[in-house]
Amino acid sequence: MSAPDRHLDPHRIGTALDGPAHPPPPDPSVESEYQRIFRRNRDWVASLTRTDPEFFARRAAEQRPTFLFIGCSDSRVPAELLTGAQPGEMFVHRNIANLAPHADVNLLSVLHYAVDALRVKAVVVCGHYGCGGVRAAMSPEPHGFVDHWLGGVRDVMRLHQAELEQLEPGPNGPRERRLVELNAAEQARRIRRAPVVQAAWARGQALSIHAMVYDLSDGILHDLGGSHGHDMRRDIQDRGWLREVEGREHAERDRGSVELAQH
Ligand code: CO
Repeated sequence: MSAPDRHLDPHRIGTALDGPAHPPPPDPSVESEYQRIFRRNRDWVASLTRTDPEFFARRAAEQRPTFLFIGCSDSRVPAELLTGAQPGEMFVHRNIANLAPHADVNLLSVLHYAVDALRVKAVVVCGHYGCGGVRAAMSPEPHGFVDHWLGGVRDVMRLHQAELEQLEPGPNGPRERRLVELNAAEQARRIRRAPVVQAAWARGQALSIHAMVYDLSDGILHDLGGSHGHDMRRDIQDRGWLREVEGREHAERDRGSVELAQH
């Protein structure tokens, strides 16, 4: 007869508090990797305070970030590293496929705090080529729970179905890369329509919104365009901003360039 299954023992209060499953032994490499985090942290602190001993003391007093950065959770898209931002310069929100759903309490809370309390000057939505979330959204295969979230990318696909169908499919092919760009632009548009942003513009608060795409194969960040607060209000009805972005991209392609316009 075997011992009672401790995983299911109803008398253990921890079972109710922590859930019925217990963690298996950790991967042996984790301990050294975990310790490395702290060593690197101390190195980083030393490098910043060597020439500026008050670096952290100044930032601890308050934060005044210029940007709210909305990017993908992908570990290869580190917001501060790829933009060279220092602590205090960027308020960051990341999720799978850098989405800005109208009913996501997390995103909306971040947006509200960034715009109303921190008074950021700009919101940037950063997509990235090779995005696993975008790739999964384009695939007919089921992916489980995350398919709920990826519906936000499929909405963008449906909006631009005609254009996307003209492009070659496949991993990191033209269709996927174009959807990455369109998705970033569409999420920026959603930010623009958010009541928090509309209210800020209505009271005259300067706040620009931008979309960009990061290429993790070469580290280069590409500007997809954007507009500045009061200008954007003029074309809010006619999708003028995206037409302008698309027109510029097509002109670039006509000249034989696959790169997006830089400006
Ligand atoms: Co991604």
